[in-house]
Amino acid sequence: MQRDPKLVPRHVAIVMDGNGRWAKKRFMPRFFGHKQGVDALVRCVQACSDRGVEYLTVFAFSSENWKRPEEEISGLLGLVLVAVSKYLRKLAEKGVRIRIVGDRSAVNDKVRAAWDEAERTTAHNTRITLSVAFNYGGRWDVVQACRRAVREGVAAEHIDEAMLSSLTALSYAPDPDLFIRTGGEVRISNFLLWQIAYAELYFTDCLWPDFDEAQLDAALAAFAGRERRFGDVRAAAAQPVGGG
Ligand code: IPE
Ligand code: IPE
Ligand code: MG
Repeated sequence: MQRDPKLVPRHVAIVMDGNGRWAKKRFMPRFFGHKQGVDALVRCVQACSDRGVEYLTVFAFSSENWKRPEEEISGLLGLVLVAVSKYLRKLAEKGVRIRIVGDRSAVNDKVRAAWDEAERTTAHNTRITLSVAFNYGGRWDVVQACRRAVREGVAAEHIDEAMLSSLTALSYAPDPDLFIRTGGEVRISNFLLWQIAYAELYFTDCLWPDFDEAQLDAALAAFAGRERRFGDVRAAAAQPVGGG
């Protein structure tokens, strides 16, 4: 599909927030909200793909989410396995390439194996790249990039923005054009920090399990109405900064 870059962002990043409150409103356990959240994600991938978005990056579990009760954490880890077995085939058939970004060292072997399978199965797909940020933090990403630079013996004078970008977890993607957060909070919560330097920000009260095509279109309409200048005064002449 032909995408007009002024109307449709190439890369959309989403903080999928509000699952717990969605469940609470229905007198259900938080896990039920997370489960519905997976279904909302699968619908969103399809809707983004239909509209010509090339990269969708979603925040599924933050570096800070380990502070939650043990029961919720194990529920979320279990949900990764359920989601992969339920949806991997369907996403693969739709041309979705899946990437997992975040620190994998802290999760169990089963979850790691499910992610490896999801990445392996979809590696050759080209329609849309879905990056799932799990045990991810924007600060973690900058720190791990710096560590890699040091480990690879990069000299101080060779460190610049492009070089550091190439070491971040999302180095294969251009910087996000549109950053969406559902759930009503107006904060970044340590999602992509380096990469959203010039993203357009969009916040909605919609709770993530309710995020549907109409909600996505409202966000895209807001994006289409923004004037991106990237520091220039002549919007038309402006070019994006950074990214792959
Ligand atoms: C977002 O929903 C999903 C994760 C953080 C895993 P929440 O679980 O934060 O839901 P609320 O914000 O408590 O409603
Ligand atoms: C951000 O949501 C993380 C994810 C959506 C995965 P949180 O619910 O954890 O963020 P805070 O605690 O409200 O900042
Ligand atoms: Mg939340």
